[in-house]
Amino acid sequence: MRDVTLLNIFEHHIAQKYLNRSGLSHAVAVSHHAYKLALAQRQNVDFAAKAGLLHDIGHFTWYKNGKWDYDLYRKNDIHPIKGAERAHKLLIRLGENPVSAKTIALAILFHTDSFLPSNDIVRTPLQQIVKWADEKDEEEGGLHHYRKISYERARDSLEKLDKLIDSHLEQESKAE
Ligand SMILES: [Fe+2]
Repeated sequence: MRDVTLLNIFEHHIAQKYLNRSGLSHAVAVSHHAYKLALAQRQNVDFAAKAGLLHDIGHFTWYKNGKWDYDLYRKNDIHPIKGAERAHKLLIRLGENPVSAKTIALAILFHTDSFLPSNDIVRTPLQQIVKWADEKDEEEGGLHHYRKISYERARDSLEKLDKLIDSHLEQESKAE
């Protein structure tokens, strides 16, 4: 049994606030992509799905005169840092194991190079998976942040993913 499920995270008011800000549909899609990639690469599917779901919760809305301002965003964005911190706090609050919470937070911290001084960091397989999962769902002009999904559909989709993760982890523990 996991300490925290995707649904526990999704239903928390802090997650709701930030998931809706950066695009719930994108978050759910990246969570699914990360799960599949982790499954294929024999990495931790639970960590991958959680990091995928929460990877963008550090976004701030860089609006100027009612329009998204890319210059402001590029100059000032630290969403991976803020996201890692927010996700870590939320996971700990929900009762996640601290070592797991750290691993997930680091995968969020390194999901993009956009805020780093260079793009030559060496990622763990899990960190690389979250980066790829995000890139898989990206649309030109940042449109992936605006795609819509209803609360119910997102909830159902994450509930399904929770079941897949649980059954995979169960199989894994039987095989040990
Ligand atoms: Fe993203």
